[in-house]
Amino acid sequence: MKPIKVLTVCLGNICRSPAAQGILEKALLSERAHFEVDSAGTAAYHVGNPPDPRSIAALAKEGIDIRKQEARQVSSADFDQFDWILAMDRENLRHLKKLQPSDSKAKLVMFGEFAGDVSYGEIADPYYGGDEGFILMREHLTQIARAFVKHLDARPEINKERLN
Ligand code: 4NP
Repeated sequence: MKPIKVLTVCLGNICRSPAAQGILEKALLSERAHFEVDSAGTAAYHVGNPPDPRSIAALAKEGIDIRKQEARQVSSADFDQFDWILAMDRENLRHLKKLQPSDSKAKLVMFGEFAGDVSYGEIADPYYGGDEGFILMREHLTQIARAFVKHLDARPEINKERLN
C-alpha cells in the first residue's frame, strides 16, 4: 500500500511548517495509516536546526511533540516524491511554482485555501513577533488541517488512486 505523502512548506522550516507537520500527523495518522507527512523550507538559513522553541511550546500545549524535527530545504526531488505540497504563504507558493519541474504531478496549493475564512489564504509568519503569534498560528493551522482532512475524506478516489 503506497502512502499519500504530504509536504508542508514555509520559509525557514522552523516555525510554521514544522507546526503544520505535527498538527497534520495528529489529524491524519490517528485514524489513517496510509499517510506520511514531512516539512521543508524554501530558504536554507536554518537547515539542521530543530523547530523554534516558541513553536515547540505552542504545540506542546496541545500534546504535540515536534522537538525531533530537523529543518531542511525543499528540493526538486520533493516534487516527485510528494502528492501534496502545501505552501504556508503566497511568497512560498511563488517560490515553489518556480521550482516545480514541468512533469511533476504533485498538487501544489496554499494550505490556507482549505479554510480561507480562517487564514485569508496565508499563515502569518510569527517569527518576528511574540508568543501570542505562535498560538494564533497553531489555531489557524489546526482549523485548516481539519478542513484539509475533510477535503481528502470527501474525495476517496484520490486515496484509492494512490492505494492501487
Ligand atoms: P517560518 O518562519 O518560515 O515559519 O519557519 C521564519 C523562520 C526564520 C526566518 C523567517 C521566517 N528567518 O528570517 O530566519
